[in-house]
Amino acid sequence: MANLLITGGAGYIGSHACFTLLQQDHTLVVVDDFSNGSVDALRAVATLAGLQSEPRQGLVGGSNRCWRWRAPTSRRTRLSLIEGDIRRAQDLQIAFEVLDEEPIAAVLHFAGLKAVAESVAKPLDYWDVNVSGSRQLFDVMAENHCRTVVFSSSATVYGMAESVPIHESQPVRPINPYGQTKAAVEQMLQDLAASAGPNEPGWRIACLRYFNPVGAHESGAIGEDPDGIPSNLLPLICQVASGQLERLEVYGSDWPTTDGTGVRDYIHVMDLAEGHCAALQTLLAEPPQMLTLNLGSGQGHSVLEMVKAFERINGVPVPYALCQRRAGDSAVSVADPRGAQGRLGWSTRRDLATICRDAWRWQQQNPLGYSN
Ligand code: NAD
Ligand code: WQD
Repeated sequence: MANLLITGGAGYIGSHACFTLLQQDHTLVVVDDFSNGSVDALRAVATLAGLQSEPRQGLVGGSNRCWRWRAPTSRRTRLSLIEGDIRRAQDLQIAFEVLDEEPIAAVLHFAGLKAVAESVAKPLDYWDVNVSGSRQLFDVMAENHCRTVVFSSSATVYGMAESVPIHESQPVRPINPYGQTKAAVEQMLQDLAASAGPNEPGWRIACLRYFNPVGAHESGAIGEDPDGIPSNLLPLICQVASGQLERLEVYGSDWPTTDGTGVRDYIHVMDLAEGHCAALQTLLAEPPQMLTLNLGSGQGHSVLEMVKAFERINGVPVPYALCQRRAGDSAVSVADPRGAQGRLGWSTRRDLATICRDAWRWQQQNPLGYSN
C-alpha cells in the first residue's frame, strides 16, 4: 500500500491503471488538465472501486479544482483528482501536499500528448508537454524526495524496427516528433538514473514501451474516449460496427504479411494496467535501478484478422474497403515480451476475443463516450 501520484490519470490508460491500483489498496492523487481526459472517467473508476464522493470538494492551493472519494466506511481519502498542468511546478506541488503530511512514494506518469499525425503538425506542443512537462515533474519529484517513477513510453521509439519480434536492445530510432519526445524523456531518465552518487540518492525508474493498447474494463464503465474521429484501429472498428462511421479504410493490402494488411501487437488495457502494478511493485522492492521494458503480448494480428474476430465475437458486421498505405506505417510491429515476463513476472492474460468483447461493450454502453 503506497501513496501514488498519477499524472494523466483521467485519460484512457491512466483511468484503467487507477482502478487496478485502487484494487491493490493504494491511495491515489491524480493530476490532469482535462485536455484529453474527463472527471467522469474518474467518477466511473471511483464507483467501480466502491468509493463514494466526499462532501469535502472544491479548490486546493487557492485555485485548483479538486474532487475526492473515500470508502463508505472510512474517513480516509483514497482518490483525489486535482485539475493541474504538469508543466506548472505549482500544480504538481499542490498534488504532493494534498495528502496532509503523508509523502508520495512513487509517480506513474501517463500525462502527455499522443497523436502521431498531430505531432508532425504541432511539434512544439509535443516537446513542451511531453518533454518540458516531464522535466518539470522530475524536478518537483526530486524536491519532494520522491525518486520512483513509472513512465509511459511507446513502441514508437523503435521507428522502423530491424526485425520482429522487437527486443528492447533494438536501436531507438523514432521517425516522428511524438516518438522523438518519448525517446527524449527516456534519455532524461537514463541521465537521472546515472546521477546517483555518495550524496545523491538513486532513482527507481521503469520506462514501459507499450505496443497497441486496446479494449476497456470488462464492466464497460470505463474505456477509450477519442476526441472526434479516432485514428486508431479498434475505436474505428467500434464506430463502424455501431454505424457512426460508414466503413473502415484498411491502410494497405500489399504489406509483406500473410493477408497483405498490417500486423500489430494489441494489448488489452487491463493487462497493461496490471503491468504497471507489477513494475511499481518491482521498483519499490528492489534497490534503485532503471528498467526499460516492452509491454506487449508477443502475438501479432493483421487488420483483417481484427475485423473478422470483431465480427465473429460480437455478431456485428464491420464493412471495410482496401485502401492505400498510410504514411509512416510499417508492416509488422510485435513485442518480444520476455523482458517484462522475466523482470516483473508479468505477461498478458486476456486474448483477442476478450479485447473485442470488452471494446464493443464500452462502445455500446457509451456511444458518445463520457459525454453520454
Ligand atoms: P490519453 O490522452 O487518454 O491520456 C493522457 C492524459 O494526460 C489525458 O487525460 C490528458 O488530459 C492528460 N494531459 C495531457 N497533457 C497534460 C498536461 N500538460 N498536464 C496534465 N495532464 C495532461 O492517452 P492514453 O492513451 O491514456 O496514453 C497515456 C500515456 O501512454 C501517454 O503518455 C501516451 O503517450 C502513452 N502511450 C499511449 C499509447 C496508446 O496507443 N494509447 C501507446 C503508447 C504509449
Ligand atoms: C493499427 C493498424 C494501420 C487505422 C499508433 C501509434 C503508436 C501508438 C499506438 C502511442 C495499422 C491499420 C489503422 C485505419 C487501418 N500510440 N489501420 N485503418 O499505427 O500501430 O500505432 O498507436 O504511443 O505510437 O503510431 O496503431 O491503431 O493507428 O493502426 O488499416 O483507419 O491498423 O495501418 O496496421 P499504430 P493504429
